[in-house]
Amino acid sequence: MKTLIAGATGATGSLLTRSLLEAGQDVKVMVRSTDRLPEAIRNHKNLEIIEAAILDLPNEQLAGHLADCQAVASCLGHNLTMKGVFGPPRKLVTDAVRKLAEAIGQNKVTAPVKLVLMNTAGNRNRDLNEPLSFADQLIIGLIRLLVPPQSDNEQAAEVLRKDVGRNNPAVEWVVIRPDSLIDEEHVTEYTLHASPTQSAITNPGKTSRINVADCMARLILDNDLWEKWKGQMPVVYNVST
Ligand SMILES: NC(=O)c1ccc[n+]([C@@H]2O[C@H](COP(=O)([O-])OP(=O)(O)OC[C@H]3O[C@@H](n4cnc5c(N)ncnc54)[C@H](OP(=O)(O)O)[C@@H]3O)[C@@H](O)[C@H]2O)c1
Repeated sequence: MKTLIAGATGATGSLLTRSLLEAGQDVKVMVRSTDRLPEAIRNHKNLEIIEAAILDLPNEQLAGHLADCQAVASCLGHNLTMKGVFGPPRKLVTDAVRKLAEAIGQNKVTAPVKLVLMNTAGNRNRDLNEPLSFADQLIIGLIRLLVPPQSDNEQAAEVLRKDVGRNNPAVEWVVIRPDSLIDEEHVTEYTLHASPTQSAITNPGKTSRINVADCMARLILDNDLWEKWKGQMPVVYNVST
């Protein structure tokens, strides 16, 4: 199986890349700069590097890169700088996910391609009843207004939920929603839930990036897990010890 990863130079994307390579998989990464890939994975024999900014790539070229991929993962996120958070492209994740889904659709696929999107527990799955307290509504409304990546994450998930949908012959998808990200050395026990079990705003849980990467890799590799969660937006929490 071959997977294309967008955002592979990021803190989570690099862990996902490593995890799939360690599982013996073929991986293609689309990166703005090869130098930003950790050295340990940069020269791996099963890794193909495409140096391109995904939003600048013509759709036909992207479709060409995707033609031999059975899975696609996005760990894209706005860099946490003033330019990254407030500058263009303000719809980085939304536009990238739409481009990826459209490019997959251009290819004549024999089986649906798996698309896994890294999102946030601060986003609701509008298919489900995920009520927010008044305080949470107020704070999320303010964040949405003031911090562009929040609405970008929300709209990116909506592209899959509404535009791609659940009966698409070319694309099946899972939106992974971690809560507050932390860094840990090793994969630890974690749980998946259809909806948040605690408030991402007033009582956030913790999710380590390496567990997010492990979960995304397992979804790609384990068809039973994929069947269980496809078309859904599981929330991932570390099991606290
Ligand atoms: N912080 C939290 O607690 C939290 C919680 C839940 C979810 N999240 C979400 O998790 C996601 C990933 O988190 P992370 O910490 O792994 O991210 P990260 O380390 O900041 O990685 C971001 C990735 O996006 C790429 N990127 C940024 N701007 C780009 C652009 N204009 N064009 C192409 N690529 C671009 C970066 O590439 P370069 O290396 O080239 O810059 C990098 O590969 C984010 O979407 C974030 O919203 C965060």
